[in-house]
Amino acid sequence: MSKKILITGGAGFIGSHVVRLFVNRYPDYAIVNLDALTYAGNLENLSDIENATNYKFEKADILDAAALADIFKKHEITDIIHLAAESHVDRSILSPLDFVYTNIIGTVNLLNVAKEAWKGDYQNHRFHHVSTDEVFGTLGDSGFFTETTPYSPNSPYSASKAGSDHFVRAYGETYGLGYVITNCSNNYGPNHFPEKLIPLFINNIINNKPLPVYGKGDNTRDWLYVIDHARAIDVVFHQGKNHDSYNVGGFNEWKNIDLVKLLCKQMDVKLGREAGNSEQLISYVKDRPGHDLRYAIDASKINKELGWKPSVTFEEGLSATIDWYLENEAWLKNVTSGAYQQYYEKQYLDR
Ligand code: NAD
Ligand code: TYD
Repeated sequence: MSKKILITGGAGFIGSHVVRLFVNRYPDYAIVNLDALTYAGNLENLSDIENATNYKFEKADILDAAALADIFKKHEITDIIHLAAESHVDRSILSPLDFVYTNIIGTVNLLNVAKEAWKGDYQNHRFHHVSTDEVFGTLGDSGFFTETTPYSPNSPYSASKAGSDHFVRAYGETYGLGYVITNCSNNYGPNHFPEKLIPLFINNIINNKPLPVYGKGDNTRDWLYVIDHARAIDVVFHQGKNHDSYNVGGFNEWKNIDLVKLLCKQMDVKLGREAGNSEQLISYVKDRPGHDLRYAIDASKINKELGWKPSVTFEEGLSATIDWYLENEAWLKNVTSGAYQQYYEKQYLDR
């Protein structure tokens, strides 16, 4: 059956890569990108495919249930890949309610619209919910998150994503809605908004600004190239077991400070700076409250059941990411003007 897929949050970082992959790989599908274009949404991310015949954009807020119902009807949506969210932990510490609204209530709005539209035929439709490994809380020095690790979110962001995951599961159990959930580790790559570690530090190195490492820099994250995440979503959307969840990760753990030093080294070379130049910008600042020590994903289920594994090494992916930012200066300037400066001051001024 030819599908008509609503991708929410398709103008954001990961969403834009998912939209591009689906538009290019599935010419028979109709892809509708629904996005409110918040500070994190940017249609420039999709300028290469905006005129594709199987692609349409709808500007709408997932908090607007009536608009969602209209868009569903107008495009006869058969499936959803849900990425729209407030996504930054530091912002969730500054204003938790924004995360409750978009991530929990927005998700329930979408679930309600899907439940009504697909009534009586749930097995032929799929709600793919894109979530994070942060719902599992934090690890100590050893061990991995598996699909059966109990939820234990520590930040307002991860608590709101955990809430949304639970609602998706509950709609599956209670009403029979067809769903899959993916819980992915930290992504990096082109189009990443420069509030997150890697793009923020790339931008600061370019501008010779301090690199604010939280605490001692010994927190650990598992990094995955964004296009590999999009490939995982493709595989799980099409082949994942109904009413099931899959962990997605890079088998690629880095302590923040080691990652920052690698980034500095690559940037020195690419910018033609003397070795060790960018490292001098490192500045240890007050830690993030509730800062999770370590995330690490056991991705053996998606690997064994669906044959997915990352295709890009970290060194390759990081190098391609830096190149993208250096080649897309206008994009970076655009997203770091105006409101970004206010956020930056609020977040970093008295750290
Ligand atoms: P992002 O912040 O870059 O993009 C979010 C997108 O959602 C933006 O285009 C924004 O305009 C849109 N949006 C926000 N609120 C909306 C609303 N109320 N209605 C409609 N659209 C709205 O986020 P991202 O990093 O691309 O993350 C996408 C999804 O993947 C999120 O659900 C996030 O929790 C999840 N995720 C992210 C990571 C990561 O490392 N970034 C890892 C695992 C999972
Ligand atoms: P981030 O990119 O915000 O992702 P998440 O918090 O969702 O994992 O942060 C990645 C790691 O980098 C995390 O341990 C916090 C740390 N960090 C800093 O040390 N300084 C910063 O300015 C930022 C944004 C993050």
